[in-house]
Amino acid sequence: MKEEVHVFAPATVANVACGFDILGFALEQPGDEIIMRRTRQCGVVIRKIFGDNGKLSCEAGLNVAGIAASHFLNNVQPGYGVEIELQKGMPIGSGLGSSAASATASLFAANILFDKPLNIMALLPLAMECEKAVCGTAHADNVGPALLGGFTLIRSYEPLDVVAIKTPDDLLCTVIHPHIEVSTEDARKILRKQIALKDAITQWGNVAGLIAGLMKSDYELIGRSLRDVIAEPVRSLLIPRFKEIQTAVLACGALGCSISGSGPSIFALTNDQNIAEEVGRIAQGEFQSAGLRSEVFISGINQNGPVLIEEE
Ligand code: HSE
Repeated sequence: MKEEVHVFAPATVANVACGFDILGFALEQPGDEIIMRRTRQCGVVIRKIFGDNGKLSCEAGLNVAGIAASHFLNNVQPGYGVEIELQKGMPIGSGLGSSAASATASLFAANILFDKPLNIMALLPLAMECEKAVCGTAHADNVGPALLGGFTLIRSYEPLDVVAIKTPDDLLCTVIHPHIEVSTEDARKILRKQIALKDAITQWGNVAGLIAGLMKSDYELIGRSLRDVIAEPVRSLLIPRFKEIQTAVLACGALGCSISGSGPSIFALTNDQNIAEEVGRIAQGEFQSAGLRSEVFISGINQNGPVLIEEE
């Protein structure tokens, strides 16, 4: 059995416009890192957290990495505890799946530390429980792709049925994170609980179109399908200059542009590096004119999910 492991788990873009709670994909960067050590003392201790600007609690029961490790230990009962060092590589409350990355890193690290008693699919319900602890709902569209890599469809929650969707190799994602925070819990509360049949028809046409477009590498179909008539109209009100950014980003040639997860980050997909960079400049300029600082991440789709960085 190993004494220590060091792992990386990726940021994720959930919803992907039309797929509220059922679609998500993993990014190559950014991501969180965890160093986890086995301890004789049972239970979970968080030793250090870096990169969070002091926002996160080191109390294991109040930190999603700690909660994830506790779920793992309760499940597997290895007869040891763990201590954790967490390096946050992404902003918190940004819509990049920050809690999912930490939970995934922690579960993946613990599983390796204790010689893989669980397979990746068995880690998913534990990761979903962490999402529930943090935002009130056990949604899987961040933790699914964070754990499995690639583009993930949650076909069903009960029973859980997760499908990996093949994506074109050259797809690029630009994420622009304005420096405001939106909690997923709040962004879920403002959504309408009922939707009109007309909107449902539009939405499921787009979900099916997006999946077909990805599987056929049909960029025009991907672009036509990256539309959301359910969450985006409500949540975009929380993001200054969202409409202006979306209009300008589409005009510059991106395939589609919507809110990343519950926001406030905005994502756009393209298969052209120049457009990916131009999208970042456009959005940063718009946010700047609203008095907001922002940062840009440009990444391919991460096909691997979490990875082991080094072992001792
Ligand atoms: N599907 C979730 C939501 C993702 O939109 O609330 C949160 O990142």
